[in-house]
Amino acid sequence: MKFGYFDDANKEYVINSPKTPYPWINYLGNQGFFSLISNTAGGYCFYKDARLRRITRYRYNNVPIDMGGRYFYINDNGTVWNPGWSPVKTELDEYQCRHGMGYTVIEGKKNGLKAEVTFFVPQNYDGEVQQVVLTNESNETKNFSIFSIAEWCLWDAQDDCTNFQRNFSTGRVEIEGSTIYHVTEYRDRRNHYAFYTVNDTIDGYDTDRDAFLGSIYNGWNNPATVEADKPSNSFADGWSPVASHYKKVTLAPGESKTLIYILGYAENPQDKKFASEKPANLLTREAWVLNKEKAYAMIEKYNTPEKVAAGLAELRETWNSLLSIFNVHTPDDKVDRMVNIWNQYQCMVTFNLSRSASYFESGIGRGMGFRDSNQDILGFVHQIPERARERLIDIASTQLSDGGCYHQYQPLTKKGNADIGGDFSDDPLWMILSVAAYIKESGDWGILDANVPFDDDPNGQHTMLEHLNVSFYHIVNNLGPHGLPLAMRADWNDCINLSCFSDTPGESFQTYTNPKFKAEGGYSKIAESAFVAALFTYTGPAYVGILKHIGKADEAAKAQAEIDKMKKNVMESAFDGDWFIRAYDAYGEKMGSKECEEGKIFIEPQGFAVMSEIGKEVGADIKTLNSIDKYLNCEFGLVLNNPAFTKYYIQYGEISTYPGGYKENAGIFTHNNAWIICAEAYAGRGDKAFEYYSKIAPAFTEETSDIHKTEPYVYGQMIGGKDASNFGQGKNSWLTGTAAWNMVAISQYILGVQPDFDGLKVDPSIPAAWDGFTAVRKFRGATYNITVKNPNHVNKGVKSMTLDGNAVQGCVVPVCDGGTHEVEIVLG
Ligand code: BGC
Ligand code: NOJ
Repeated sequence: MKFGYFDDANKEYVINSPKTPYPWINYLGNQGFFSLISNTAGGYCFYKDARLRRITRYRYNNVPIDMGGRYFYINDNGTVWNPGWSPVKTELDEYQCRHGMGYTVIEGKKNGLKAEVTFFVPQNYDGEVQQVVLTNESNETKNFSIFSIAEWCLWDAQDDCTNFQRNFSTGRVEIEGSTIYHVTEYRDRRNHYAFYTVNDTIDGYDTDRDAFLGSIYNGWNNPATVEADKPSNSFADGWSPVASHYKKVTLAPGESKTLIYILGYAENPQDKKFASEKPANLLTREAWVLNKEKAYAMIEKYNTPEKVAAGLAELRETWNSLLSIFNVHTPDDKVDRMVNIWNQYQCMVTFNLSRSASYFESGIGRGMGFRDSNQDILGFVHQIPERARERLIDIASTQLSDGGCYHQYQPLTKKGNADIGGDFSDDPLWMILSVAAYIKESGDWGILDANVPFDDDPNGQHTMLEHLNVSFYHIVNNLGPHGLPLAMRADWNDCINLSCFSDTPGESFQTYTNPKFKAEGGYSKIAESAFVAALFTYTGPAYVGILKHIGKADEAAKAQAEIDKMKKNVMESAFDGDWFIRAYDAYGEKMGSKECEEGKIFIEPQGFAVMSEIGKEVGADIKTLNSIDKYLNCEFGLVLNNPAFTKYYIQYGEISTYPGGYKENAGIFTHNNAWIICAEAYAGRGDKAFEYYSKIAPAFTEETSDIHKTEPYVYGQMIGGKDASNFGQGKNSWLTGTAAWNMVAISQYILGVQPDFDGLKVDPSIPAAWDGFTAVRKFRGATYNITVKNPNHVNKGVKSMTLDGNAVQGCVVPVCDGGTHEVEIVLG
């Protein structure tokens, strides 16, 4: 069952029922100001940091789930409704929500009155513009009123939802004309404020939530002021400040009226915080007056429909140009819409927000993850390499000089998060991969010489190359008894906690280490990760490639020797006959082996081991891929492990706390499905790669949206696995490494268009049934029009390649100096 459809020409998903199986959201903003907006206008806004600079409030674990956001209410002669149906839920005569690239349009119609609301965050602008077009489509004159509402968050979202004894007494506002300012704590330690305005006169307002709702017994579904069609002109003093505008409107038949609301954020320099004079029309309870110059300028910028149209056009242009960098035309529409539109769009969102703020991530828990942000870059780097570079330097600056890293950092302060700490065994390796991806995309070898400090030596002179070096040797210097990398607190799988042994509720599996390992330095010196071993042999060659390229042949050979040794160790101690084991636990027992009672096979190490060609000479790659197909493949994707754990294994940690089929315990963890898609493509099995790709790619789940539940245009972290009663049900949509890795899987492995140090490699591994495909790739200043022909219906194998009609040896297109070039490839 579907709840809408893809409008590819407009790059939109059009939702035609407000009652989607879960809130289907969009993200507005891609620089400093961000909004989440659901198909019924729920959600919230923040500036840069969802925890430390929350602008509007959102209630967690609410019932109904999606309640609170920025709402418009219309009172049309006693009939009260919202253009997005919720929260009043008056049945609409027509409803539509169009989520597009950085904007959302919600349209409702009731009794001949149509309200179309366009929400977007313009480029280089710290505010959300909401354009409301009201049209009287009836044959009679309409007199009605429109109320807006936004509830302010008192800035720190964590404090806001816990520290009521203080926060109920700090709320402050100012009102000037049609603009309501939120200035809580501005007098003392803050230099930032928010505002909500409309480009017209108003007939009333409210700034106190309970006054707007009418009583503490009312909710957003029945605000008394709206029902009575009478604002209370309240002035907030503590409690919960809000901003609501009241406007009476008269429309003749066929007539339209446009109102432009802006929800904005601004910061003042310390010495310019206050205005020297108090304007006559200003309402305040304070002796001081906010300096509003920045708000005035922002309001001026979008106060007419023409200016709004220009802002939207600029946004569209930005996205058209971002999406023109890589574009394909394949025999499958669903692939095209994922690759050309939605997967790339999601990659921008995950790049911006890591795992911080979604309908599943509260925005108060996690800042930017070290491993997460590095992986996000893999899917984003081609869009704006300069931003990837900046991010790489931020991330690397949270690394320690021994190669270890803070696992997370706050985007506002860019400082490593001491509560979580470090010692996640995989973290450093992802940085090698992301820096290599950046160089391959941009050709900017200069980044290696960039001065990048270490967290424990903030003023020292260190280069990015040094960071790569300590990342690589952090693995080499921390090996266990079998010569495999120590597992430490966790590797990519946060829920395999081999040094935790937790038996007390509430202990965090990621931060708690059993005292028995404290003396050993914080984690077991026995537990080893075969996954990190495989990741090391997969990423190591990128480091070697970099060293060779810059003429450090000796160091390259030394690093290569470590990779070779690791491969040998893996074959000796971590190949189980038909697949690779997952780990050795702290007792030195195998995890993810035939010998285990449950959790005999895990997905994570397999893909990287196959792509590193570990044991290829004895057929380990194909045996492994076949085992995955046999034990992990099911209708909706590949489960993470099998059989699922049915008991708590204290020596494994969090993974065995999840009921079978969910999350890391045999859920379909889509992120690492991508690694197998890559591996199948790498091994030349394009049909299998495509089968796995199409099981989890959102556009392919659209028809079963009632089962899948989450948005059919973006990946989620997880789909219920075969052991779950909710088999096939998606969860944790939007912020997941799946976005980047599936972008890599489809574009670089299946379609095979892969930036390399010295050119653009094109080595597809596609379904044999395909006749071929075409792609446009902008790369280092030139545009390549790529045509792949598959006359013999093979999966893989470049038989010939030409560049502008001239034969090229191999399958790497050399870097051209600008211009447009024709690349033709024949498979066979
Ligand atoms: C989740 C993981 C997550 C980790 C850290 C666990 O409970 O299952 O997916 O990465 O917490 O936040
Ligand atoms: C989600 C986390 O963000 C990611 O870092 C981790 O790798 C996966 N969970 C798997 O546990």
